[in-house]
Amino acid sequence: MENIRKRIEQIIKDQSLIYCVLSNARKKDIENYNKVTIRPILVKGEYIYQFTYNYPKKVTHENIKEDAMINKTVTLFEEQFKQGQIYTKDADVQILISKKLKVKILEKPPTKKSINLEHNRKKNHMIPENEVNPFLIRLGVMNEDGKVLAQKYDKFRQINRFLEMVADVVPHLEKKTEKINIIDFGCGKSYLTFALYHYFVDILKLHVNIIGLDLKKDVVNHCNEISKDLGYEDLKFMIGDIEHFTGADKVDMVVTLHACDMATDAAFVKAIEWDADIILSVPCCQHELFDQIHNSLMNPMEKHGIIKERMSALITDSIRANILEIMGYTTQILEFIDLEHTPKNLLIRAIKTNKKNQEVVEEYRKFKEFWGVNPYFENALGEKLKKRLL
Ligand SMILES: C[S@@+](CC[C@H](N)C(=O)[O-])C[C@H]1O[C@@H](n2cnc3c(N)ncnc32)[C@H](O)[C@@H]1O
Repeated sequence: MENIRKRIEQIIKDQSLIYCVLSNARKKDIENYNKVTIRPILVKGEYIYQFTYNYPKKVTHENIKEDAMINKTVTLFEEQFKQGQIYTKDADVQILISKKLKVKILEKPPTKKSINLEHNRKKNHMIPENEVNPFLIRLGVMNEDGKVLAQKYDKFRQINRFLEMVADVVPHLEKKTEKINIIDFGCGKSYLTFALYHYFVDILKLHVNIIGLDLKKDVVNHCNEISKDLGYEDLKFMIGDIEHFTGADKVDMVVTLHACDMATDAAFVKAIEWDADIILSVPCCQHELFDQIHNSLMNPMEKHGIIKERMSALITDSIRANILEIMGYTTQILEFIDLEHTPKNLLIRAIKTNKKNQEVVEEYRKFKEFWGVNPYFENALGEKLKKRLL
């Protein structure tokens, strides 16, 4: 491995790394990442390396400083990956490691263009900064010159992060020949609903119908006004409760971001009834199971209110993902935005694949029994879920 270390040291010293992919994993199971990508980013003039770990069911990120980056990468080769493709300004470097840990390093002329990192970071946004964007101006995120307001920068990042997650699932919707029907349950002030519309219509040039639903009349009226002003013909807002919503017959994608407590489950039930292809949800205020969960083995955690609260939120979301899997969705739990901005940072992304998986049924039964819970989501689905649990 010494030759790998030396080559990486050289690349880091020259600051020539563009992008790196580590693949061909040795341990191929759910616990281990099967691919890691590394890209440099410039933070306040300092080179930082962003590692993205791709697990079968989740993606995590880690920012690592230059000095630690080399050891980290070499360890990844030693412990998990047999192959690496490193794109630098000077060469495309391929690393191959045999079963007997023999290392081969192949070099070819560079195929990727070097990048201005700061510039690139801005361009990487789905909605660029410093470009006049009518919906962001109207919502008070940017000024008339296209500058994002300092106090709205977190919102701007959240919008972009959300659109990145949407972009990943668009291929599952593009086969639709008619308009794509999308509903945003609990849309609130609707920054993300407007962003969705802008992304599908202005950027992707797709035909969509988007409905935002919320309990709050004043908010809904205000959003309808903005939509009209912007000429967003196929974006409408309605007043109503998710559970009793009857305003659509066919919905392809259901979004529900920070809808409180069981409103998230009500949104899932609707999505399942419509056989929606995609569900994107950031749950919050998961209070339902707090008073139900109990297992004496977990006393060390249960006896501390704050730990129990977090544990109960995680149990709730695990159960939700598990039920969605039983109902034929492939689910991933992703980090929505950095924990430092909001503790409600898990996004459940579910894609209808109709994969039958008896294992998840078993998992569900045992998990429920372990915690002694009776979730609203299961009861609200009624017969639909019961049939699958048989
Ligand atoms: C925290 S805000 C989130 C707004 C937006 N989705 C976002 O993430 O920026 C939650 C919204 O969900 C709405 N809400 C909560 N329960 C609801 C229900 N049962 N039916 C419709 N809307 C609901 C609330 O009125 C509120 O506007």
